[in-house]
Amino acid sequence: MKNIILTGFMGTGKTEVGKLLARRLDFTLVDVDSEIEKEQGMKIAAIFKEHGEPGFRDRESAVIRRIAERNRVVVSTGGGAVLRLENMDALKGKGVIVCLTARPETVFQRTRGSKDRPLLQVADPLGKIRELMEARKPYYEKADAVIDTDGKSPLEVTEEIVQAISDKS
Ligand code: S3P
Repeated sequence: MKNIILTGFMGTGKTEVGKLLARRLDFTLVDVDSEIEKEQGMKIAAIFKEHGEPGFRDRESAVIRRIAERNRVVVSTGGGAVLRLENMDALKGKGVIVCLTARPETVFQRTRGSKDRPLLQVADPLGKIRELMEARKPYYEKADAVIDTDGKSPLEVTEEIVQAISDKS
C-alpha cells in the first residue's frame, strides 16, 4: 500500500486526521512541521522569525525529501508544502496525495487564538486566510483526492479518506 500524504490549508485537520488515519491503517504518522522543529531545535514561529519564509521553505523541502523515502507512513504536511513542485514530486513517488479542505470561516474558527502560525499573525487573519487559500487553490486541486472537512468529525473525515483511496493506493 502507498504512503498517504495529507495536504491542505492550515486548520483543515491534517494532524488530527493524520493520527486517526495512521492508527486505522497501522502506518506511522510523520508530521512535517514536528520533524522540522525537532531537527532545528526551534519552533516554526522562531524559524520564520530568524530565517524568514524562504528559509523555512528550504528546511521544509529538505525534511520532505527525507520523509518521502519512507514506507507505510501517513505524512501530515504544512499548508504551504504544496507550493514547491519538488516537494510534491518527491512525495508522489511512493504516495497518494489527499487534500483536506474547509471554508475560510471554519479555518478562522479553528486557528484563532493560536500563536503557532506566523502567516496568520496579522490584523485581519480571516482576510489573510481568504487571500492565501485563493492563491493556493490550484496547488491543492492537484491532489489525487479532495475531501471537504466542514461539519465533519475527524473520525468521519478519516473514514472518507479510507474510502477515497481504496482504488488509488
Ligand atoms: C504554513 C502552515 C503551517 C506551517 C507554517 C506555514 C503555511 O502548517 O507549516 O506555519 O504556509 O500554510 P499547518 O498547515 O500544519 O498549520
